[in-house]
Amino acid sequence: MEYVPIRISTLRGETIFEFNIYIQVREKYLLYIRQGDDIDTSRLKRLKKKRVRQLFIETKDEEKYQNFLDVGLDMVINDSSIAADEKADMVGGYASTAVDEMAENPESVVAFKMTEKAASGIVDVLAADGDVLAEIMKKSSESQEGDVGTKHGVNVASLCVALGTAMGLTKQAIRDLGVAGLLHDIGLNELPDDKKHLLTTPYEKFTKEDWKAYKAHPKSGAEVLNGKDYINPQILLLIKVHEERKSGDGFPEKLTKMEPIEEVIALASWYDRLVTCLGWTHKDAFENLKIDQLGNFDMKILDKFKKVLKEKGINNL
Ligand SMILES: [Fe+2]
Ligand SMILES: [Fe+2]
Repeated sequence: MEYVPIRISTLRGETIFEFNIYIQVREKYLLYIRQGDDIDTSRLKRLKKKRVRQLFIETKDEEKYQNFLDVGLDMVINDSSIAADEKADMVGGYASTAVDEMAENPESVVAFKMTEKAASGIVDVLAADGDVLAEIMKKSSESQEGDVGTKHGVNVASLCVALGTAMGLTKQAIRDLGVAGLLHDIGLNELPDDKKHLLTTPYEKFTKEDWKAYKAHPKSGAEVLNGKDYINPQILLLIKVHEERKSGDGFPEKLTKMEPIEEVIALASWYDRLVTCLGWTHKDAFENLKIDQLGNFDMKILDKFKKVLKEKGINNL
């Protein structure tokens, strides 16, 4: 039998599973939850606490799992009785799965549709519950599950959606920001193995060759997705300009003029790189935002961003 990993954060208690779920012990896959059974919420919570990184399903059940995810996402968004941290778990888990799928198979329409659904999920859940943004940020630093790049994508998307909403951008613009946020660093997957560490390396430590390789990622990301009729040009543009700065200090084009929506993704991805990729505290990143980034972004947008972080209590996490 062939197995594929699934995220524990995407599982729900008291729900009948229509597929077998396995746990890996050394080289073996042991049946953990039988098809037709459920898991009680307390057992699931214990499992999450144990830091078991992954469970598995049989490859043939992938579509069933996909359906299960879709149903779960709709459910958490529309159920006001579900706590913010559980919502963050579900939406974050769904979005992470989408980012991973896209990284593995950027050509896949199914993976892209999942990314769109994840972005809409983030938009809806943040609109319905003001506490979810902070929970998503918290989970990302606490959880051992998933890789840094994926967490960064989910966080950037969430920050983009929150800031775009605070700025009163259109619904379409906010959704585009969500999708672009999830995929903004997809170009980093094109880096050779000996440069993969650059995502988690401070710029001060970059060599000339590092910079050369790293500066290519916004364009190579857009190129990977280019020519797909299901991806709109705005999303591609946002990916291309996410490292630009209004001051002209960004890359690859050293733009000096940026649209507000473009500054949103640049600001969100810069901020979360410090926190998620370099391990800064939110407190320190927030301080840096006030001091070092003044010329780099539009003052009004910077102020709005600070306000969002403060209102949601993220600056003190
Ligand atoms: Fe980037
Ligand atoms: Fe990034």
